[in-house]
Amino acid sequence: MKKLMFLVAFAIALCGTAQAQSKGKILIACFSWSGNTHELAKQIQQQTGGDLFEITTAKPYPADYSECVNLARKEQQENARPPLAAEVKDMATYDVIFVGYPNWCGSMPMALFTFLEKYDMSGKTVIPFCTHGSGGWGNSVDDLKKLCAKANVLEGFAIRGSAVKQSKDEVLKWLEKTGITNSK
Ligand SMILES: Cc1cc2nc3c(=O)[nH]c(=O)nc-3n(C[C@H](O)[C@H](O)[C@H](O)COP(=O)(O)O)c2cc1C
Repeated sequence: MKKLMFLVAFAIALCGTAQAQSKGKILIACFSWSGNTHELAKQIQQQTGGDLFEITTAKPYPADYSECVNLARKEQQENARPPLAAEVKDMATYDVIFVGYPNWCGSMPMALFTFLEKYDMSGKTVIPFCTHGSGGWGNSVDDLKKLCAKANVLEGFAIRGSAVKQSKDEVLKWLEKTGITNSK
């Protein structure tokens, strides 16, 4: 009996994986300064089984909030492309790319511009997710769509940073809507 139950559980697990894999190989790329977006990225990883990649800059942002805001503002005004610390190995093998970031000064941190310009997203499915103070997406989705003009950009998920830890059910509902989850 135990053996049978094990086999059934194994078959269910296999079906779940196949469902996620039928959408192709999944990458969850995320930039996070104070941890909220990273927490959301981990929830997406748990639900999809994708690979997690941290977008980090070669020169880390200041730990002090005001200094960080000042630098973020300056980079935005200068339309800067801060160099990144690491690159995604085998980006060409991924079909679905979740792209996560905090709302910084009404859009994405400029490091995301560096990231999205670096890779060819043509033909890939790109799904944004964002945490914010209260400004929602700001202009970030428009900016992201411009940088991923040849990708299929699906409806993303935005949430206040302070609510991320209680967002598991909402995240699952959104992922089920996109059709990219292990659980169905
Ligand atoms: C440099 C900087 C700029 C920010 N600008 C905005 C903003 O324009 N609108 C907003 O709603 N939140 C803004 N925030 C708040 C963050 O979007 C929010 O706290 C987010 O959840 C942080 O995510 P993280 O923990 O992954 O870094 C800003 C935070 C920082 C550090």
